[in-house]
Amino acid sequence: MRNITIAIDGYSSTGKSTIAKMVAKALGYIYVDSGAMYRAVTLYAIQNNFIDYSDFHVSDFLGELDKIKLEFRFNPGLGYSEIFLNGENVERAIRTMEVSNFVSQVAVIPEIRRRMVQLQHKMGENKAIVMDGRDIGTVVFPKAELKIFMTASPEIRAKRRFDELLSRGEKVSFDEVFRNVQERDHIDSNREDSPLIKANDAIEFDNSELSIKEQYQKVMRLVRMTIEDLE
Ligand code: DC
Repeated sequence: MRNITIAIDGYSSTGKSTIAKMVAKALGYIYVDSGAMYRAVTLYAIQNNFIDYSDFHVSDFLGELDKIKLEFRFNPGLGYSEIFLNGENVERAIRTMEVSNFVSQVAVIPEIRRRMVQLQHKMGENKAIVMDGRDIGTVVFPKAELKIFMTASPEIRAKRRFDELLSRGEKVSFDEVFRNVQERDHIDSNREDSPLIKANDAIEFDNSELSIKEQYQKVMRLVRMTIEDLE
């Protein structure tokens, strides 16, 4: 079967990664969570005091970018790859509210985006990849054979993220999570460099009312149709 590139973009907490992971697993493709890359860079900035509530020392931080080594390592137990920052598994550490609060500010910086896109291109060199994010169908893989743009209402997305954070023992309020979701929507959609927009040739679907199984089946149908059309 012919290998393709699958780009899944959309707002935060639309459940993109859940579906992307399932689809990659079923197809035997690489799965890359590009948001995890921006989150890991943000974690590095926090851990090394380049960022705090009063300030983000952008120019000092840019001088350190060479010290940040990101890689995805496949975890056979889970069936997908996890992100490592300078050799350490940070899959959990990047999902905190603190990282979520700063990540959009880090992701607006063109120098950082350029580096991430370079790495993403390398990972997608041989196709057979599912990558999710904000600019995958528009900037990273504009020629991807299948582009999906996922949406869901902000309330539903905040509820999903809230439940996820609670289940991991984080003490957060629903309002805080809801505000963060709305704030990130705003920053991600309005930034100058690679804003979150639907690519012209992306297929949009609102998954507010769909179960995970229904979403998965829908995407797999689209994958099959795309491959059939190419053959
Ligand atoms: O998908 P996520 O919520 O984990 O992504 C975290 C942040 O990273 C998101 O608010 C915007 C940024 N991001 C981006 O700018 N471009 C991407 N391709 C992926 C994520």
